Amino acid sequence: MQIIKVKDYEEMSKKASDILSDKLKGKPKLVLGLATGSTPEGLYKLLIEQYKNNEISFKQAKTFNLDEYVGLDRQDSNSYYYYMNNQLFKHIDIPLEQTNIPNGIATDSDKECSDYEKLIKEQGGIDIQLLGMGLNGHIGFNEPGTPFTSRTHVVTLDESTRQANARFFDSLDDVPTNAITMGIETIMDSKEIVMLVSGEAKASTLQQVIQGEVTKDVPATILQRHPNVTIIADEAALSKVR
Ligand code: F6R
Repeated sequence: MQIIKVKDYEEMSKKASDILSDKLKGKPKLVLGLATGSTPEGLYKLLIEQYKNNEISFKQAKTFNLDEYVGLDRQDSNSYYYYMNNQLFKHIDIPLEQTNIPNGIATDSDKECSDYEKLIKEQGGIDIQLLGMGLNGHIGFNEPGTPFTSRTHVVTLDESTRQANARFFDSLDDVPTNAITMGIETIMDSKEIVMLVSGEAKASTLQQVIQGEVTKDVPATILQRHPNVTIIADEAALSKVR
């Protein structure tokens, strides 16, 4: 596990954009795993800037998002499809058919999950997976207690996760109760993982992720067992690591 300590959110985003753009330059057909939420917003802005400055192109890249809420269609401004379009895809040159996000309104969600796994395999697996981390240590929407052997599946969101994400919705009641997420094993199959963590609120969880035992109670601790993980975290997030 490589830990890169940066000053703040801006530096975290810059470091991450440098890593991802180098990968893309080295392999234009990169299979990139993406995340949503507040954490990668700064990174996506910087990637868009680099694209606009003709430094990088996503024309041949493929993307797979970690997760999507169940019950929100693509036009819903809280769906992760909508988020990805607005935060990144519509500003860069990636053909939309090369982007993949689980379909939250699939009638057969189990089939949607197994199809998603198949699609990832068909592309040769994920070269580099970007992660954020929940306050409770979730990665994707794999909440505490999720088996490490899980593949893409439907989950019930923790109450704490719904509350944390309520800031994007009109009210807590509007936050979906379920999501489709890549499983922990799906994430661990990625050739490389970059996790971004910012802010003091995540400091004690991050301390466990880096220095604690590997436990299902804090899903991100599994990353200790991945051969190629980089955590880019700011001083506040790393404030409990001694
Ligand atoms: C989002 C995702 C989640 C978030 C996590 C942190 O696709 O998979 O695991 O990364 O909930 O969210 P933020 O960045 O909003 O603190």
